[in-house]
Amino acid sequence: MVWYAWRFLNWVWLKPKKNEKCLRDQGLNGSSYKFLFGDLKEVVNMLREAKSTPINLNNEIVPRVLPFDHKSYTAYGKICFTWMGTTPKVQITDPSMVREVLANNYQFQKPRGGNPLIRTLGAGLTDADGDRWSKHRKIVNPAFHVEKLKHMVPAIYVSCAEMINKWEERLKKERSCEVDVWPYLQTLSSDVISRTAFGSNIEEGKRIFELQRELAVLVIDAIQSLYIPGSRFLPTKKNNRIKKIDREGKAPDMSYVVNGNEYKYGYYLGDGIYPEYATFVKSFSFPADEKRKLFKLAQESAQKDVERAFGVLKQRWHIIKHPARTWDRAKLTTVLTACVNMVLHEVLRLYPPAVGLGRMTHEETKLGDMTLPAGTFLQLQIMLMHHDRDVWGDDVSEFKPERFSEGVSKVTKGQTSYLPFGGGPRICVGLNFALLEAKMALVMILQRFCFHLSPSYSHAPHTIVTLQPQFGAHLILRKL
Ligand code: HEM
Repeated sequence: MVWYAWRFLNWVWLKPKKNEKCLRDQGLNGSSYKFLFGDLKEVVNMLREAKSTPINLNNEIVPRVLPFDHKSYTAYGKICFTWMGTTPKVQITDPSMVREVLANNYQFQKPRGGNPLIRTLGAGLTDADGDRWSKHRKIVNPAFHVEKLKHMVPAIYVSCAEMINKWEERLKKERSCEVDVWPYLQTLSSDVISRTAFGSNIEEGKRIFELQRELAVLVIDAIQSLYIPGSRFLPTKKNNRIKKIDREGKAPDMSYVVNGNEYKYGYYLGDGIYPEYATFVKSFSFPADEKRKLFKLAQESAQKDVERAFGVLKQRWHIIKHPARTWDRAKLTTVLTACVNMVLHEVLRLYPPAVGLGRMTHEETKLGDMTLPAGTFLQLQIMLMHHDRDVWGDDVSEFKPERFSEGVSKVTKGQTSYLPFGGGPRICVGLNFALLEAKMALVMILQRFCFHLSPSYSHAPHTIVTLQPQFGAHLILRKL
C-alpha cells in the first residue's frame, strides 16, 4: 500500500514539480503545474469558447485554432512549457531546434505513452518508430516515386471528374448555385486513395475512410477530457464504438515480398507497391488493350485539362504581370505552373493541415542548450511558425503567393520555418502525391467554374486531427 501510495504521489505531484524546476532552472518560462490536470481544464475551456463563434474573414486564425498554445506563446515566449495533465509539454517554434528534433528521429520519437486511444488513430508507418519505422518506410517509399505517381494520374482524374460531374449536375437547372464543397473535397481525397491503393476494392477503401473519420471525432473528444488509466475499458457507448471501429476499420493485413523477405503490412498504402498499380487497372472490367487505351485517354485528357485550365488561370490571375501575348507557350506553361505552386505553398503556410507535430523524449535528452527530462512532450508548432511576423514580415497574415516567387529557402532565409509536410527523415511520404492531386483538382475546377464565397460561409477553422472548416466551405459556383 505504501509503495502504491508513493508511486501515486510521485506521478501526480513530485515528478511534475521536479520536472518544472528542471525546466525553470534552465531559463524556460511556462505555466505552474496544477495537481493532476495540469493545464487541461484551461485548454478545453479555451477551445470550447473559441469554437463557439466564427471569426472575421481574415487569415489571423491562430487564436481560434490553438487558443491555449497561442496564449502561452504570447505570455512565455517562443520556447516555453505547459502541462498536459502530469506531462510537461515544451512548445517549440525556434527553427534550429525544430530542425534538430526532426533530424534525430530515433532520439525524438512519436508520442507513445499517455492515452492509448491516440494509438488507434495511427496506422502503420505514421505511428511506427525505430527499426519498425525504418523497415516500413523502405517498403512504402518506392510507391511514391515520381515514376509511380505518373500512373496515378488517371485515378486522380477519374475521382476529380466524378466530383465535378456532381456539381455540373446541380448547375444544369440553374445558372449558379451554392455548394458546400468541403464534404466533396473530403470524399475526393479518400476516393483517390481508395482508387490508387485499394484498386479493385474501392468500396472497401471508402468504407474504411468513413470509419476512420468517425473514429477521429470520437478519439479527439475522449482525449480532451482527463485521461484516467484503464477508463477506455469501461463498456460505455463511445468506448464500444471506438473498439468496433478499431477492429473493423483497418485495411486487411497484407504481406509483401521485397528482396526475398516477406513483410506483413497493415497500412493501406502498402497496396501501392504492386507494380504499375495493377490493382487499379483491375478495377476496370475491360480487356487488356482496352485498359491500355483507357489509361492513355485519361492521361491525355488530364493533360488537356491542365493546359486549358492554365489558359483560364492566365486570364484571371493578376500575379502574372507580363503580357502573355509576347510569351511562347512553353514559357507561359512554366510560369503558370510556378503560379499554381506558389498558391499552394501560400495556402499550406496560412492553413497547414498539420498544425503541430508531437515528439517525446524517452530519456534525459539534450536539445540546443537545454536538457529535457525523460517523458517530455515536444510540440513543434508548425502553425505558429507559419504565422510568425519575425519570419514572414508585417504582411504575415496576408494571402500573398508571390512571396514564394524565389522559392521557399529564399523567403525563409534558409531557416526551417516552413514545414507543412514535416521534415527530416519522417517528412510526409505522400507529399508529391498530395500536391499532384491538389494541382489536378484545382486546375480541373478552375477550368469549368468560376466561384466566390457564399454569404452563408462562416470562417471557422478548427482541428479534428487536421485543420478543417468547422461549418463547411460554402461557395457560389457558376459554370464557365
Ligand atoms: C496536403 C496533404 C498532406 C499534408 C499537409 C501532410 C502532412 C504530413 C506531415 C506534417 C507529416 C509528418 C508527421 C510527423 O512528422 O509527425 C506527414 C507524414 C506522413 N504522411 Fe502526410 N500529409 C499530406 C498528405 C499525405 C498523403 C496524401 C499521404 C498518403 C497517400 C500521406 C502519408 C503520410 C505518411 C505515411 C506519413 C508518415 C511518414 C513517416 O513517419 O515516415 N500524407 N504528413
